[in-house]
Amino acid sequence: MKGVMYFDQAASSWPKPPAVMEAMMLCMQEYAANPGRGSHQMAVKASRALFETRKNLAKLFGVRNPNDISFALNTTHALNQAIKGFVKPGDHVICTNVEHNSVRRPVEYLKSSAGVELTYLQHDVDGNMQLNDLKEALRPNTTLVVVNHSSNLLGTIMPIAEIGEICKAHGAKLLVDAAQSAGILPIHVTDMNIDMLAFPGHKGLLGPQGTGGLYIHPDIDLEPLLHGGTGSQSEAIHQPTVRPDRYEAGTQNTVGIAGLNEGVKFILAETVEKIHEKEWAHTQRLMEGLLGIAGVTILGPKLGQNKTGIVSFNIQDVDSSEVAFILDQSFQIAVRAGYHCSPLAHEVAGTLSKGAVRASVGYFTTAEEVDALIGAVREIQTQYVK
Ligand SMILES: Cc1ncc(COP(=O)(O)O)c(C=O)c1O
Repeated sequence: MKGVMYFDQAASSWPKPPAVMEAMMLCMQEYAANPGRGSHQMAVKASRALFETRKNLAKLFGVRNPNDISFALNTTHALNQAIKGFVKPGDHVICTNVEHNSVRRPVEYLKSSAGVELTYLQHDVDGNMQLNDLKEALRPNTTLVVVNHSSNLLGTIMPIAEIGEICKAHGAKLLVDAAQSAGILPIHVTDMNIDMLAFPGHKGLLGPQGTGGLYIHPDIDLEPLLHGGTGSQSEAIHQPTVRPDRYEAGTQNTVGIAGLNEGVKFILAETVEKIHEKEWAHTQRLMEGLLGIAGVTILGPKLGQNKTGIVSFNIQDVDSSEVAFILDQSFQIAVRAGYHCSPLAHEVAGTLSKGAVRASVGYFTTAEEVDALIGAVREIQTQYVK
């Protein structure tokens, strides 16, 4: 929306690079046929758009074979495919107490429906974990460790490569929820020993909603979440074993994926290092400004520490929804309030009773917008806190 200062990047990024929208429009106008089904020119062009995107995603994440990446609707879809497709009755799964509900709910579902054992690693108030806790939690039947790369409430960055080494040594597989890191932090699945990577297309990768994906190590065979038509081996009763078809039943979101390709190309050109540096600078500016306002407390890593572009805060006991409402209605500033689908992380931060205001920055956020947000919070504080 014109004039809106958008600080809800952690939910869905906005704005998108113009090339994303142009590619979607071009696809819609010229070749939005069914990919992988027909052999006519438009269908072939649609298939090619999907493969191009897979190739660029593989380049971004250090994946050797692009076909080990299957598309999904969003991170939640990819996480469900990974968790429900991998875990068997009798398995022990480890996750953390800062996981999003997209991890917590599927693992809790398996705990109650399939007798799966579950351990939550305890993080400290800033969201940091002790690697030793992971080593101690491992059991002979631990088959899967699930961790988010960065907490969507606290912005804390997890030591994925070290976690990967521990999992590999034990023989457990590592599933990383990259909802808050894909396109923002360096990810190399081979170097970091990541066995499965669930990622959104609509956040840091700058693509449209309805896009995301899952990388699956070639040695892992998941039970498909969806069964149905793939345009391949149509005579077979069962889901094909060939990738990515095994995990891509039904018509794919060609228009969205064509847009996602341009988002990924934008990131490859800019580099994740530059993107993270820019976002970190914005978080530091915002934190410094907010900490100068009496009564404001910030959750997660302290000023100067590494984190992603998330700044969650409260103004004393003022209801976070009320702060978000005033920011929106009086200042044209979009933030998110409440629990952010992460009640576990709120428990860790000690904010389960009230939630928090979350301001998240992106590559297109400007210093002027950050200053406007600080000024608006100062005005709210003077009105509400006497
Ligand atoms: C850490 C984390 N995991 C999973 C999700 C779910 O992502 P999606 O909306 O793409 O399903 C989110 C969304 O904000 C998130 O922050």
